[in-house]
Amino acid sequence: MNTYSMTTYVPQNCTNCHTGSGIPDAPIVSEHNQFGQDVITSVNCTLCHSNSGMYLSNNGTNGTTTAIVHYLKDVTNLGTSPVGHNGTINTSNCIDCHNGPYTGVSSWGAPVNISTSTKRTHIETQTGQCDLCHKDGTVQSLALVDFHNASIKLASTNDCISCHTQDQRGYPAINLTLFTRHSNVNTTGGQNNLTNDDSPPAITTSTTLK
Ligand code: HEC
Ligand code: HEC
Ligand code: HEC
Ligand code: HEC
Ligand code: HEC
Repeated sequence: MNTYSMTTYVPQNCTNCHTGSGIPDAPIVSEHNQFGQDVITSVNCTLCHSNSGMYLSNNGTNGTTTAIVHYLKDVTNLGTSPVGHNGTINTSNCIDCHNGPYTGVSSWGAPVNISTSTKRTHIETQTGQCDLCHKDGTVQSLALVDFHNASIKLASTNDCISCHTQDQRGYPAINLTLFTRHSNVNTTGGQNNLTNDDSPPAITTSTTLK
């Protein structure tokens, strides 16, 4: 009988095959891992991928089932749109982790609660709303991809309005309806529409003041 030797055939790290340029055929994970492009988790692959429902239990002698090859279950069918989810979590539902049943749960990396975040207290409660600020231009909606997809991005901190229409640690919320006179300072956002572009242009050293 052949025995598998962990010392002769040292298992590789997940990241050797699934991050960076990876290896052919292995799906690359770009976000929500310890080497994420934008969204970096403090926990590593195995913490989440050893969760129940995420792996195939090794029920053969010395791993004679599929387990010895790759003990992980196919969790995402990337060939469908929106992607099919066979894992225990549908990670296209951002809100489930960021203001829902898995928020703060350590076995899923203790996802932060966005409604009490110190970076931005979010009033959004629907996953469909995340597209506005956390999606780049490569996909139509985050609903079509899962949370490892490269299209997820950090929101811009130049978006003054998105934060300041809510109270920010003692600085009261700005009521946009009281700033109507500013709305046509810049009309790229449309006539009578108050946007970040309506703030006065920054004075740079090349600006000639008259
Ligand atoms: C915060 C928990 C978590 C971390 C950390 C994590 N994963 Fe995942 N991963 C998941 C979940 C949950 C799914 C299922 C996604 C779905 O179906 O929506 C998944 C899906 C996948 C898939 C399926 C294909 C794809 O692109 O989604 C691969 C491959 C994968 N993970 C590899 C990794 C690797 C490698 C790492 C570390 C570099 C990692 N994961 C880190 C939870 C995690
Ligand atoms: C030696 C390279 C290699 C290593 C190391 C590796 N993988 Fe994979 N992984 C692959 C390949 C190749 C596939 C695609 C296999 C297939 O589609 O049949 C795959 C598939 C997967 C899938 C299923 C993707 C899907 O479609 O749902 C998950 C989840 C996954 N790997 C996670 C991990 C995790 C977590 C680790 C570390 C514990 C890991 N892999 C280590 C090469 C590797
Ligand atoms: C399986 C749970 C899970 C799901 C689903 C999930 N996240 Fe996360 N997310 C995390 C974890 C864990 C972290 C990192 C927390 C840490 O390590 O501090 C994180 C962090 C983030 C961050 C903060 C990154 C930073 O460094 O400031 C953003 C933005 C984010 N996620 C957006 C999303 C979006 C958008 C979706 C839906 C496409 C989503 N997340 C779905 C678990 C999840
Ligand atoms: C109107 C814009 C906007 C919308 C909509 C939005 N966010 Fe954010 N989000 C932000 C900003 C701005 C930050 C702070 C960015 C930073 O500091 O890097 C942020 C930060 C986060 C963080 C990190 C919080 C922390 O404390 O680490 C997560 C997670 C997150 N958003 C998830 C989501 C999810 C999930 C949705 C959809 C329910 C969503 N966001 C909708 C603008 C938005
Ligand atoms: C990610 C959310 C976020 C964004 C984006 C943001 N702010 Fe703030 N802002 C805050 C928070 C939180 C505070 C409270 C700071 C504290 O507690 O020290 C604050 C405080 C302020 C203050 C009062 C304190 C001071 O430094 O005078 C002003 C003025 C301000 N912001 C203007 C802006 C402008 C202008 C922009 C756009 C360029 C902007 N903010 C973008 C979250 C944000």
